[in-house]
Amino acid sequence: MGGVRPALSQELDRVAALWTLLAEHHGGSAGFAAAPDAALSVRDHLAAALSHPDAVLLVAEAGGQLIGFGVARVLRRPALFAETARGEIEALFVREEARRSGTGRALARALLAWLAERGLARVALHVARGNAEGQAFWRALGFTDSMDVLERPL
Ligand SMILES: CC(C)(COP(=O)(O)OP(=O)(O)OC[C@H]1O[C@@H](n2cnc3c(N)ncnc32)[C@H](O)[C@@H]1OP(=O)(O)O)[C@@H](O)C(=O)NCCC(=O)NCCS
Repeated sequence: MGGVRPALSQELDRVAALWTLLAEHHGGSAGFAAAPDAALSVRDHLAAALSHPDAVLLVAEAGGQLIGFGVARVLRRPALFAETARGEIEALFVREEARRSGTGRALARALLAWLAERGLARVALHVARGNAEGQAFWRALGFTDSMDVLERPL
């Protein structure tokens, strides 16, 4: 299992490479395909997550290699609702060759702990219906169905 820690600004290119593998994994489902020239924008997006107080970017490392990463955020909304902030897990990825040894769980637990430390009562995420491993993974960590997202082509 990889050790989990905050990402460093000097390794953002390596994290961006993992982000690209995650986009490839999604295979274009639900608009998740990477733009053809995404590399620089991905790096900027990750740099913003690194510096924003409402976001966290963690990596998992084993044997000097980055084998996974995860991003979580505090999502805020106006005081129309009793709940004005909740947690969101934006991305989680473990390299294929490193899977099923607890790294995903360690990353997820660290993201959840970071969100809980911010006093949030709830965390949500999107996972594609057809992503069998993602579905099994999140449900193993206690996530259950809440809101259905319906879509159709325009
Ligand atoms: C989902 C993902 C992050 C899991 O990472 P991982 O390091 O393999 O996960 P773990 O080893 O910590 O697994 C924790 C538990 O999740 C469940 N699980 C994980 N992968 C599973 C799979 N392929 N099939 C069934 N259950 C699975 C199991 O209950 C597992 O516990 P166990 O190994 O003791 O049975 C990884 O498969 C991945 O990066 N997939 C591609 C990207 C993706 O789908 N991301 C999440 C959706 S947005």
